[in-house]
Amino acid sequence: MAGQIPQRFIDDLLGRVDVVEVVGERVQLKKAGRNYSGLCPFHQEKTPSFTVSADKQFYHCFGCGANGNALRFLMEYDKLPFPEAVEQLAGRLGIEVPREGADDPRAQQREKKRKEGVNLLELAASFYRERLKMQEGQSAQRYLSGRGLSDEVIKTYGIGYAPAGWEALKQHLSERGIGEPVQVEYGLLIHREDTGRTYDRFRDRVMFPIRDLRGRTIAFGGRVMGDDQPKYLNSPETPVFHKGRELYGLYEARQASSKLEQLVMVEGYMDVVALAQYGIHNAVATLGTATTEDHLTRLFRLVSRVVFCFDGDRAGRQAASRALETALPQMIDGREARFLFLPEGDDPDTLVRREGTQAFQDRVTCAMPLSEFLFEQAAQGRDLNTVEGRERFASQVLEALNKVPEGMLKSLLLESLAKRSGLAQEQLKVLLEKRAQVSQRSITKSDASQAQAEQDEPESASSAPGAVLAASARSSRSRSQALSPVGRIVQLLLHEPSLVATLPDHLEWLPDDDDAPLCRELVELLKAGRYRSPQVVLAHFQGSQQGQALAAFAKRELLIPKADREAELQGLVEHLQYVQRQRSPQEEYTALLAQERAGQKLDKEQRQRLASLVMELAQRQ
Ligand code: UTP
Ligand code: MN
Repeated sequence: MAGQIPQRFIDDLLGRVDVVEVVGERVQLKKAGRNYSGLCPFHQEKTPSFTVSADKQFYHCFGCGANGNALRFLMEYDKLPFPEAVEQLAGRLGIEVPREGADDPRAQQREKKRKEGVNLLELAASFYRERLKMQEGQSAQRYLSGRGLSDEVIKTYGIGYAPAGWEALKQHLSERGIGEPVQVEYGLLIHREDTGRTYDRFRDRVMFPIRDLRGRTIAFGGRVMGDDQPKYLNSPETPVFHKGRELYGLYEARQASSKLEQLVMVEGYMDVVALAQYGIHNAVATLGTATTEDHLTRLFRLVSRVVFCFDGDRAGRQAASRALETALPQMIDGREARFLFLPEGDDPDTLVRREGTQAFQDRVTCAMPLSEFLFEQAAQGRDLNTVEGRERFASQVLEALNKVPEGMLKSLLLESLAKRSGLAQEQLKVLLEKRAQVSQRSITKSDASQAQAEQDEPESASSAPGAVLAASARSSRSRSQALSPVGRIVQLLLHEPSLVATLPDHLEWLPDDDDAPLCRELVELLKAGRYRSPQVVLAHFQGSQQGQALAAFAKRELLIPKADREAELQGLVEHLQYVQRQRSPQEEYTALLAQERAGQKLDKEQRQRLASLVMELAQRQ
């Protein structure tokens, strides 16, 4: 860490930047009276409920409750940690961020290294771009124009050329004072353990810079121009590059349009670039990996529709069904996923060149809806004219449905499954619930040893009301890290915000543990209304530490049927109330008193309890 940023500086900074300007660079805003309004970037919406006030230097969304100043906005929108958000704002004004204790040489050293890392990749990118334009880049130039790329597209995507020698980049960077260890750390240089030699990773390749959402180069992909292997070489995982999360072309897609509505997922760098050449600027590619949950989370944060593009062959179908599996849990209301299968032997690059822009666009428009692909997959190899065939078909669809969040899509799929399988919807619902229970049980069973260990815990509250439920909650979460009862309450509320209505008015039962502040804040938010889906709640906390904790809770499945959730919550609260009552009267008295002093009104029951505690304590003395 590079020393604390003085608060004075932050206050001063906020006094000098304009939140309207900062937000306006990222969200389209319209003037509406004294304020500005636009579509909220933190949740999906069709009508604007996001406002920015120039007077108050504050933004607020009436839809999801996201709010804050320019700093908070940068932290949430650009996903920046606090110090970086400050750096960003200060950078706009061209001022240096002072650090307290910045004269500590070790801190200075670390800070220097971090800056080196970020600058280094940018330096490398411009080195490659320069080399493409020089004499030695001519073969690469020819290769690129042979593949039909214009200078404009080459420029937009920052495509360059890595020269053929072993040390071209290494020399260039070393001359600029960048140490070899940093070059190795960021994947530009390869260090051979056996010989101790270092040399350029990318040699004689066409270079595609991979950029983050802010346009900073974070890695490279390099293509050979001949038939050497591997065809594409990618940067390794580095402190700034995680393959399973990044998407090639996302930055450029966002630059091309301020109002992206859908993104097309393709397989390769060349596909993205070729589509752009043909005026289709919303394609992105994974970096030689399958689509991950992280990818989809990022995409659906930006657009509501994602079209997956696959080759028409068997491998393509297989990749598509994996993508389907990954997409199912993400399909909350308002999101849409489609599947586009290309003719065999084509990829988007070859297809768009052969058929042209309009034909490709038409294919995208007519891509298969997720539901259709799901049914098609389940029907494959089955004879739906037989009862067994239909049963297996229904069973496979139900298995998939189990992963779909509650909502429109799930109901529609169920309805459609009823039609296609000839089974009654009610019957299917029962089957679905059963399935949810089975998957819960199988998980619990696999954790038998952990459950055993938990049984060895002292039987502190075994006779307390709700203890059984609390214990069952304990064993069902044991598949990873243990959840406290409060943690489980947070998780239940997050998955089903409407349950907040069943909680007692006061939170005095909340113990003083790690999850308590988060639980308190969540309950207060939910009680204030408006937060009806987990996504919106998550959006509110996005970027904060609590947001991370919540996201972790959200990822875990509840593992119990909907109908039992209220009872579990009730049980947990009763359990905590019981534990509370076991505390000493003195503690309870102090807690109630503190609550009253803090201006929280006590209800009748609490007032009575306070009175009897006073008596009890007086008698003891
Ligand atoms: P393809 O082999 O389908 O390449 O790999 P492509 O995009 O059609 O490329 P061209 O048209 O031959 O230039 C698709 C993607 O898989 C990853 C790359 O991300 C590539 O864009 N890949 C492929 C690698 O990472 N390494 C390889 O050796 C090959
Ligand atoms: Mn190709």
